[in-house]
Amino acid sequence: MSLLKDTEQPNLLDIANNFTGGAVLLHPQINNTLSNLYIHHTDTVRHSGRVAQIALFVAQEMGLSNEKVDLTVKAGFLHDIGKLEVPTTILEKDGKPTDEEWELIKQHPSTAFRTLESIHPDVAAISGGHHMFQRSPYAYPGAERVAPWINDARRAVAVSDQVDALMSKRGYKDPWSPEKTRAVLQGDGFFSPGLIDAAVSVRSRMNQVQVFPPPLLH
Ligand SMILES: [Fe+2]
Ligand SMILES: [Fe+2]
Repeated sequence: MSLLKDTEQPNLLDIANNFTGGAVLLHPQINNTLSNLYIHHTDTVRHSGRVAQIALFVAQEMGLSNEKVDLTVKAGFLHDIGKLEVPTTILEKDGKPTDEEWELIKQHPSTAFRTLESIHPDVAAISGGHHMFQRSPYAYPGAERVAPWINDARRAVAVSDQVDALMSKRGYKDPWSPEKTRAVLQGDGFFSPGLIDAAVSVRSRMNQVQVFPPPLLH
């Protein structure tokens, strides 16, 4: 568990609010959940900051309207808040999770959906569907009953999430190269080459070691 100095917490939330620019993060319940997640597993919040930034570019590349891009960025920032209910020992584990641990991990999109549902249903639906575009998909119950643009936004968050996970260092692996990341995601066939390229090129321009959140790229 990370120790947070008193002065860091409000600063983190101020930055997060500016970064994603909106009411979802200003909601006291969400700010509280994010603070707790920062203490529970700081790397998840750092990862989420990068996913939000990558998703901004991917959603623009998709041609979503400004309003929908904004909601996609918010969902990118909040997509993993359900990990608050996954023990840190599991999130930090170097090896493969046991079946029991895996069942807990698979709950995190449902938890995100439940946390956000009453605050912003679209952000909840996007966040709760970020693991639907992969070989073993999982989401919250009823996740398929949404407007088509929600699925586009989910795809933007999902490709950003997968690219960041592959190109970042984790306890159990070194960062993957842009070439390997591109090749593997194209082989999986869930995202178009254009979206994969957009996500990989934004992630390539981010420093591996950086303060939260990453500066906005132009
Ligand atoms: Fe996730
Ligand atoms: Fe994630």
